[in-house]
Amino acid sequence: MQVTKPIGVFDSGIGGLTVFRSIAEKLPGYDYLYFGDNTRAPYGNRSFKTIHQYTWECVQWMFNQGCPLVILACNTASAKALRTIQQQDMPNSRYADRRVLGVIRPTAEVIGNYTQTHEIGVLGTKGTVQSQSYAIEINKFFPEVTVHQQACPLWVPLIENGEYDKPGSDYYVKQYLDQIMAQSANIDTLLLACTHYPLLQDKIKAYLPPHINVVAQGDIVADSLSDYLQRHTEIEQDLTKGGNRQFFTTTDDTADFDQHASLFFNAEVMSSYVAMK
Ligand code: DGL
Repeated sequence: MQVTKPIGVFDSGIGGLTVFRSIAEKLPGYDYLYFGDNTRAPYGNRSFKTIHQYTWECVQWMFNQGCPLVILACNTASAKALRTIQQQDMPNSRYADRRVLGVIRPTAEVIGNYTQTHEIGVLGTKGTVQSQSYAIEINKFFPEVTVHQQACPLWVPLIENGEYDKPGSDYYVKQYLDQIMAQSANIDTLLLACTHYPLLQDKIKAYLPPHINVVAQGDIVADSLSDYLQRHTEIEQDLTKGGNRQFFTTTDDTADFDQHASLFFNAEVMSSYVAMK
């Protein structure tokens, strides 16, 4: 018998914890299940087919744990897999009554409010940038805003390998920032469109002029989820509200996951290993 019906929060690895932390702060009463596919991360350089396959496998596993609602706290999965999961996989499955939400649309809905110059830089994985999802979605809500994009393929491996606060990562932080800022002198807002990147936020800010807004998604996604739950009472009422947090990872080195996760989540994390083929 399923004892809890938690909100599922999914990421390819530890990055989604930056979103989960904001969600858990804003909506502390619900039960949560966090799932990081660390052993197969990074997703950012993988093909559409592979990202979709991995994400759908993980989402089904979370449904099987009882999650009525799963948040893809991963831009790459949101860009590459969300639509196929919502429109093709779920309607034809036994999970047709469940819900999966992404992080791109809620971010696109508000990001135009941060810029005075109407020029935004989007930093993301290769997959997110190539999908053009941000350029398309931001244009729907803020047609006056010009979107510049830069893929930062080395940032996620640095973070997943615990190098985010080491001096070696500075070279790569500066390299991608120089590339995006060279695209236009009018950029006044940089969106961290990968949930891993807030872990580099201090270094990122140190290499930018102080007038640049560096925007992370955590609070934006948490506000949007809160609004969603108020509008969808049938889902909200189905969720259990015991304040529990469970963590699962596909790496068998759960101690390593727990050490980094506790730091980002700002509370002790004890994860369990889930084997994925
Ligand atoms: N944290 C993820 C994102 O928001 C994915 C990073 C990756 O696995 O490459 O895009």
